[in-house]
Amino acid sequence: KHFRIAVIPGDGIGKEVVNEGLRVVEHLADTSNKFSFESDYFPWGCQYYLDHGRMMAENGLEEIKNHDAIYFGAVGYPTVPDHISLWGLRIAICQGFDQWANIRPVEFLPGIQSKLNHPNKEDLNWILVRENTEGEYSGIGGRNFTGRGNRKEVAVQSSIFTEEGCERVIRHAFQLALKRKRKKVTSVTKSNAQQYGMVLWDEVFERVSKEYPEVETDQWLVDAMAAQFVLHPEELEVVVASNLLADILSDLGSALAGSLGIAASANLNPEGRFPSMFESVHGSAPDIAGKGIANPIGTIGSAALMLEHLGLPDEAKMINEAIRATTEDGVVTADIGGENTTKEVTDSIISHLSKM
Ligand code: NAI
Ligand code: MG
Repeated sequence: KHFRIAVIPGDGIGKEVVNEGLRVVEHLADTSNKFSFESDYFPWGCQYYLDHGRMMAENGLEEIKNHDAIYFGAVGYPTVPDHISLWGLRIAICQGFDQWANIRPVEFLPGIQSKLNHPNKEDLNWILVRENTEGEYSGIGGRNFTGRGNRKEVAVQSSIFTEEGCERVIRHAFQLALKRKRKKVTSVTKSNAQQYGMVLWDEVFERVSKEYPEVETDQWLVDAMAAQFVLHPEELEVVVASNLLADILSDLGSALAGSLGIAASANLNPEGRFPSMFESVHGSAPDIAGKGIANPIGTIGSAALMLEHLGLPDEAKMINEAIRATTEDGVVTADIGGENTTKEVTDSIISHLSKM
């Protein structure tokens, strides 16, 4: 198989970690005869914005829509407002390509300082399924409804929950649960306070769950779920939530597991009509950019999700095993308690791959 990957390194550490992930994929392509790939680079991001007044080329979606996958670093510069950089690129791609399922596994890696005090934490792992095209990030609203200038401005920010949008992502969560040892789906909303969209979500969840009698379910409010993440993470298997709520919970999950730097994610268009996009959960981390110390594990793990999506589950598994072997050896960056550089971590992952 031959794949064409659209690579968007973006800004800050995004550029540093994407190259590491590609080194890992190149190594696998060279050593296995199962696949080859070519990468097309797109220099979009905040520097592009400062030069051209937009985050991506005008016909950017056209340029990448026939690629087999998109491999994405991160965006964000201190000199460009965050809502411009996020909407101009990442959300433009997720919504433009109908990548409605954002899969974010939470993995506890061996040998690292995780923030969780739990007796058997190295066995813990769960998957967050984030609705990725609507909800709180539907972009509907506006400012200056009244009295701008005399400190009486009103801004409106609306959420959109469609029955179809809720149903497809909830169903996706059930399908993932069927593949796990413990079959369980937890739905998270704030439907006591958000009485329209999230009540619709709850109703759809109850309806869909009846089609999966073999799957255990529970439903939580997000504030209590934040506490549950810390207190009883062993109860979590597949957790499905709206765009904003799952965004917040996924940073909490990865911080519990050790660092934002280790969390991988896949933005899937499950119908395959458009390419899916693979990226770490973290942002461009301007505080450590350019120092060569960013943790590449989240982005390398995202490459594993990409290979799995492209029909190479064995290669994906090899990457994840090599990551675990590397953290077990203590070859880790500062955010998870080590002293190694970005490159050294990748080198170690590649050297474990060559032994497999
Ligand atoms: P961030 O994730 O960039 O950084 C948060 C903290 O985690 C920082 O202290 C950073 O050093 C650390 N960190 C993150 N990734 C790391 C890694 N791989 N290795 C070691 N340490 C790591 O989030 P922040 O600071 O809120 O946002 C920075 C910029 O990134 C903003 O412009 C924001 O809008 C953007 N952003 C972009 C995202 C994307 O492109 N998908 C997602 C989240 C934020
Ligand atoms: Mg986030």
